Amino acid sequence: MKNIYFTIIPLIFLSLVITSHAQQENRIPMLGESAPSFSAKTTHGNINFPSDYLGKWKVLFSHPADFTPVCSTEILDLAEMQDDFKKLNAQILVLSTDGLNSHLEWIRSLEGIQKAEGKTVGIDFPLVPDVGLKISSKYGMIHSNMSTTRTVRGVFIISPENQIVAMFFYPATTGRNLEEIKRTLIALQESDRRDVLTPSNWHPGDDFLIPSPASKEEAEKLARRNNPELYSKEWYLWYEKSK
Ligand code: BEZ
Repeated sequence: MKNIYFTIIPLIFLSLVITSHAQQENRIPMLGESAPSFSAKTTHGNINFPSDYLGKWKVLFSHPADFTPVCSTEILDLAEMQDDFKKLNAQILVLSTDGLNSHLEWIRSLEGIQKAEGKTVGIDFPLVPDVGLKISSKYGMIHSNMSTTRTVRGVFIISPENQIVAMFFYPATTGRNLEEIKRTLIALQESDRRDVLTPSNWHPGDDFLIPSPASKEEAEKLARRNNPELYSKEWYLWYEKSK
């Protein structure tokens, strides 16, 4: 009987250690995967992600540290663009491994900064604290060659169906192009609405692409339809005019 205890107890202990390690595993979820869920007490109250944002697009940002220059400019610029994201039915969330009090103090300070003379901006989106790295690990935001305690600049665009549909990573030294993130969101929404693709350097108002015909014969059939909304540059390269 004693022998059984000697075998079982270390096994239980080992499985607990393995389980807790697996929970903390730092892994970037792939495109098309469900966005990992989490709960947190944020600067804008308690949130349950993604269930609090049913039917919305979500843009989840991570940044290395509060009270740092590049991060501060990003948050201020994001606050200036927050109404654009709202109009696109998208919720912004920003996470770092700082604590809630640090986030609250930083927001208070940022909201006092004048970008243009006499013009300050309120921050309407939640800053999520992640001191234990639990959420960052689920999203693979800790890139250990950069830091084992701080998140890189990550961006995850998440569909209303909670699928990860785009992601970006930048190092701490380089501020993100927030217009590019908004442009990508708009392009994703267009492709989600109907069967169109967006060419390189596409901007809203530019013509779209459509999926290539499967063969030259299919392309000839498409050409015979004389659809005034479509034009081609090669049998595999078809555009749809923007309205
Ligand atoms: C910044 O946001 O300025 C920053 C953050 C962490 C390391 C280096 C720069």
